[in-house]
Amino acid sequence: MKKLLILIATGALLFFSAGACATSEPKTLTVYYSLWGNTAILADLIHQAVGGDIFVIETEIPYPADKAHAAAQKDINEGILPALKNKVDIVSYDIIFIGTPNWFGTVALPVQRFLKEYDLSGKTIVPFATFGGNVDKCLTDIVAAAPGATLLEGFSISGDDVKNPEKDAKQQVLDWLARINVKVVESK
Ligand SMILES: Cc1cc2nc3c(=O)[nH]c(=O)nc-3n(C[C@H](O)[C@H](O)[C@H](O)COP(=O)(O)O)c2cc1C
Repeated sequence: MKKLLILIATGALLFFSAGACATSEPKTLTVYYSLWGNTAILADLIHQAVGGDIFVIETEIPYPADKAHAAAQKDINEGILPALKNKVDIVSYDIIFIGTPNWFGTVALPVQRFLKEYDLSGKTIVPFATFGGNVDKCLTDIVAAAPGATLLEGFSISGDDVKNPEKDAKQQVLDWLARINVKVVESK
């Protein structure tokens, strides 16, 4: 009788574990670069809403916050994408949110480097960006740099608005996530 009970318990455990696997949530990663802090605010809002892990892209040599335009322009002129300080293992992630500030109308150089180094094919990619005046090609250029990925509609907001309580960036993020059918784990 005892053996029978153990067998039934083991069977039930296996059944429920298999069920749990079959319905397991997609693994989510939020990746971003931020020099002045605006994209970091947006990334944190997204991360709080969708859960999962977060990875901050950092360059080996940080761009000087007060002379960023000149330093970035110099790298562009010389065809340099800055070396990255840290690495992330993206293999196990299903959905990757990728965030960038607008630099000269497109993706910031450190994010360009990230996109060059990592193979995102087979992943679901969701781009996001902050900007000073206009999002320009930030979202579409992230998409273009991720061949073979499945893409969800991106989100962008100005660096001023993301910090402005009247613009309620958090609500904008929640509305966007609802639109693209991404499950929210926290909506306080
Ligand atoms: C090197 C550099 C280039 C920029 N170029 C643009 C641009 O072409 N268009 C724009 O709207 N904003 C531009 N900006 C402004 C940033 O996109 C904006 O302030 C953004 O929110 C900064 O994000 P961060 O605080 O995460 O670094 C530029 C900023 C930097 C540092």
